Amino acid sequence: MTAPASATEAQARTLAGYDRASALRQVHDRDWVLGGIGGEPAVLFDLGCGIGQLLQEALERFPSLRLAVGLERSEHRIAEAGERLAAHGPRVRLHPADLTEPPALPERADVVTMTSVLHWLHPYEERIFAWIAGRLAPGGRFLLTTYHPARDGDGFGGEDEIVREALAALGIAPAAVPGLFATHGVLPIAVRTRTPGGLEELLSRHFTVDSGAERAARVSVADARQYEHFHAATFGDYYARLVAPERRAEFFTAVGESAWRRQRERGRVSDMPVRLWRLAPRTDG
Ligand SMILES: C[S@@+](CC[C@H](N)C(=O)[O-])C[C@H]1O[C@@H](n2cnc3c(N)ncnc32)[C@H](O)[C@@H]1O
Repeated sequence: MTAPASATEAQARTLAGYDRASALRQVHDRDWVLGGIGGEPAVLFDLGCGIGQLLQEALERFPSLRLAVGLERSEHRIAEAGERLAAHGPRVRLHPADLTEPPALPERADVVTMTSVLHWLHPYEERIFAWIAGRLAPGGRFLLTTYHPARDGDGFGGEDEIVREALAALGIAPAAVPGLFATHGVLPIAVRTRTPGGLEELLSRHFTVDSGAERAARVSVADARQYEHFHAATFGDYYARLVAPERRAEFFTAVGESAWRRQRERGRVSDMPVRLWRLAPRTDG
């Protein structure tokens, strides 16, 4: 008989609890991004809009917005965004969409935002860059945030390291972990995020960089459970599939404990640069 899923496994499956989890990291970027929007935008697209938090703030901050469009792959998240934004009526349109195969949209946008999403589109980022460059109205801007954890020789960094420690607690030797990732088709997040230089090269095929700013994104937690919850809401079962279904509850617990150990030893769980890119479409072809 199959054991019933733990609360965290069920949460990871639907990416639930993002409202609370995002307070640890992603929420801190929202004002920063919206502060980069100049003038009085009429149409905004938010790509990978999650539960609609950025759209909500943008609608409140910019009365000039007559249309805010959210594209999102997760049906659970888009449903939550719909509830959150219902009060804005026809000013909002939400589309279920996979950004690696972007949909046809009739409008052009004054602003396109994409926050904490790009690494999930690897290695197909250029498809969405070309789409955005073609959908921006004259004078329009693309605001993008990207995280850049330091990488080791195996390409591991950021969350990969916390997962490697959790797997060690489950009896998997650290040296075996890169092979385990490869066997399960799990690309280290530190590879998915690309280096700032590599990303700039890719972006510059479609955009000129108006400005780029960088600051530290630090995550701290009050206990192991809080990080277990953050991991499930942010990474879903991306890493959990590295272990057999009957060990997944144990895996999520070990991730929380590994993060909590870091918190006690270093005063934080993680610390990495986050970049805000402000981009204009290239006009030279
Ligand atoms: C870390 S969350 C960021 C959500 C929101 N932008 C924020 O800053 O809080 C990443 C989001 O990207 C979405 N996503 C990942 N891959 C996607 C894809 N291929 N197409 C559309 N959405 C995607 C996920 O479902 C998730 O909601």
